[in-house]
Amino acid sequence: MKTRAAVCTGLNEPWKVEEVDIADPGPHEVRVQMAYAGMCHSDEHLRTGDMSAPKEVLEVFGVDSMFPMIGGHEGAGVVVEVGPDVESLAVGDHVAASFIPACGRCHWCASGRQYLCDLGMMILAGPMMSDMQWRYSLDGQHVNRMTQLGTFSEFVLANEASLVKVSPHVSLKAAALISCGISTGFGSAVDRANVRPGETVVVIGCGGVGSGAIQGARLAGARQIIAVDPLPFKVESAKKIGATHGAASILEANLILPELTEGRMADVVILTPGVLTGDLVAPAMALASKDGRVVATAIAPFDQDEVKLNLFNFSMFNQALLGTVFGSASPRVQIPNLLRLYEAGLLQIDDLITREYTLDEVQTGYDDLAEGSNIRGVVKFDL
Ligand SMILES: NC(=O)c1ccc[n+]([C@@H]2O[C@H](COP(=O)([O-])OP(=O)(O)OC[C@H]3O[C@@H](n4cnc5c(N)ncnc54)[C@H](O)[C@@H]3O)[C@@H](O)[C@H]2O)c1
Ligand SMILES: [Zn+2]
Ligand SMILES: [Zn+2]
Repeated sequence: MKTRAAVCTGLNEPWKVEEVDIADPGPHEVRVQMAYAGMCHSDEHLRTGDMSAPKEVLEVFGVDSMFPMIGGHEGAGVVVEVGPDVESLAVGDHVAASFIPACGRCHWCASGRQYLCDLGMMILAGPMMSDMQWRYSLDGQHVNRMTQLGTFSEFVLANEASLVKVSPHVSLKAAALISCGISTGFGSAVDRANVRPGETVVVIGCGGVGSGAIQGARLAGARQIIAVDPLPFKVESAKKIGATHGAASILEANLILPELTEGRMADVVILTPGVLTGDLVAPAMALASKDGRVVATAIAPFDQDEVKLNLFNFSMFNQALLGTVFGSASPRVQIPNLLRLYEAGLLQIDDLITREYTLDEVQTGYDDLAEGSNIRGVVKFDL
């Protein structure tokens, strides 16, 4: 079949809608008609080259580039066709995309850590993870898809491992945002940092992921949440969803924390700026108390390997620096759970969507994100 999809053809090339051919579903694959796709910053990392598959991985797949690639990994829709051997989904099921596949069988899935599923090695470059065959093409050329998904497309062909079944009654718009950004931020606070009642939490960067972290910290019982963002309207939005204080920079947060914490500083610091760089780590650690936990959630350019950190203070203050993927929670547990919180009115999603875009406006949406006018943009499809 043919579908319209937003494709990036090379580094720093804009998202442009093309008519792409998709073959029939292979083993364990289903076709999904998309309802909504969220515009997470990670797709921008892909376009700018921050997120790049290593050369050795590309060689395994017999390609020399990740492009052309259909963007998008946040999203939700309805299953319209199932291929052979599909066990978990049927036509008509409502699903949320999961950028981390969850096979359920590998060591990591079986031990309750689906966010580390071994199939994750397949998500940046290459053919379908089901059978290593290509099923997307454009003018006869193979087409890759962001994290085996490519949700900026009217129809998506994906392995059932990359899809999480959700209740048919839930909002697919909310499910789209929960499918990556909100879950990742929420888990960064709740599952990775293990925020406890009464703690002080700093969230650096108040976009989609940061908004999940703020709400995770609030629901975990944080006494104070300091939202840091250079954009005043994002700090204001953060205060509506649970932040108790705002700051325009890490330095400003550093100045207000001593008074808020009787000089102890923050129990937890969560790094969710658009791009993580090594120079942000030391200032973030300086916001943390003795025994403080700092979570690095944002994605750094793939070749970023320099971090300046005072190792004497690090060990003598008993601090922890923690990485996280998908907020260290299992997508099949976290996505339905956060949807239930949303339905109960305890998790705010609607006000985080600054604007809805058409598929043709994906690049406009990312331009708006870069110039700072979006908390989250969402692509709305005609479903
Ligand atoms: N670890 C994971 O599994 C995972 C999953 C999803 C997204 N991410 C990453 O999380 C990051 C955030 O994603 P997003 O979609 O929320 O991005 P976003 O661009 O929507 O939001 C980032 C926010 O950070 C602010 N900011 C930038 N520099 C800052 C600084 N120095 N101090 C304070 N605030 C700053 C920006 O103004 C913006 O509001 C990205 O790097 C994204 O790729 C990681
Ligand atoms: Zn994402
Ligand atoms: Zn697995």
